[in-house]
Amino acid sequence: MTNWSDIDINAKCWIKEAAQIIKNSFSQTLDIQTKSNRNDLVTEIDKKIEQFFIGKIRRNYPGHKIIGEEGFGDSLETTAGIIWIIDPIDGTMNFVHMQRNFAISIGIYENGVGMIGLIYDVVRDELYHAIKDNGVYMNNLPLNRLEEVKLSESIIGMNASWVTENKRIDPAILAPLVKNVRGTRSYGCAALEFAYVAAGRLDAYISLRLSPWDFAAGKILIEELGGVVTDLRGKPLNLLEQCSIFIAKPGLHHEILHNYLHKGDW
Ligand code: IPD
Ligand code: CA
Ligand code: CA
Ligand code: CA
Repeated sequence: MTNWSDIDINAKCWIKEAAQIIKNSFSQTLDIQTKSNRNDLVTEIDKKIEQFFIGKIRRNYPGHKIIGEEGFGDSLETTAGIIWIIDPIDGTMNFVHMQRNFAISIGIYENGVGMIGLIYDVVRDELYHAIKDNGVYMNNLPLNRLEEVKLSESIIGMNASWVTENKRIDPAILAPLVKNVRGTRSYGCAALEFAYVAAGRLDAYISLRLSPWDFAAGKILIEELGGVVTDLRGKPLNLLEQCSIFIAKPGLHHEILHNYLHKGDW
């Protein structure tokens, strides 16, 4: 029998330790490199934190598998077994430029089912935390289940570039949505945007492309609170692949999917 409470206690403890390593780096000069393009940043701290978690997991849970953004984990073809999906720093650009608005994100799955989700806003000291069927907490305060909201009174997290010319979606699809909601916000940290939907600070979040480490923890939080997590076509997410993301409160998800995202050929 898997002792989930033991895993949960260890994961939270390691997250706080990792956060201290990140905060200590604020006074150092970072080694900043680029990955797929000149704006896709990575630092030695991203790599160090991923290796820190992997070392702890391998020592304590040698049978568990790991997927990490910086590539120090396993390369997996199935979701069988227990898998830790880790983004050591989600929002690296914010980390480098602002020293805030980034998070550590860890989702732990068993045979594809989300069991523990942890998102830690290091600088604000806000830990969003879910264990399957036990609710979602922010710093140990329970978060409310997600309720229906009118589109005209909703705030949606999304990146402004999706309503300019881009290669993924016709701007004419998202522009009417942007016009009809109360407001849009863009935080540059997918995990925090999931956490903000969970906490009721946002009502929905849209991204045209995320990787499993960006959404693994957030998906567990949102689903535990009765929110809906799909891609932009309303399909379920694949834990091993990149995909578009559309999360929202119940009701609002259906309305946006059918009245906006399903319109047009894209
Ligand atoms: C990025 C952030 C950002 C999202 C990007 C991600 P990273 O993660 O979550 O908000 O728009 O798609 O790649 O690279 O900073 O961990
Ligand atoms: Ca990255
Ligand atoms: Ca990320
Ligand atoms: Ca990252």
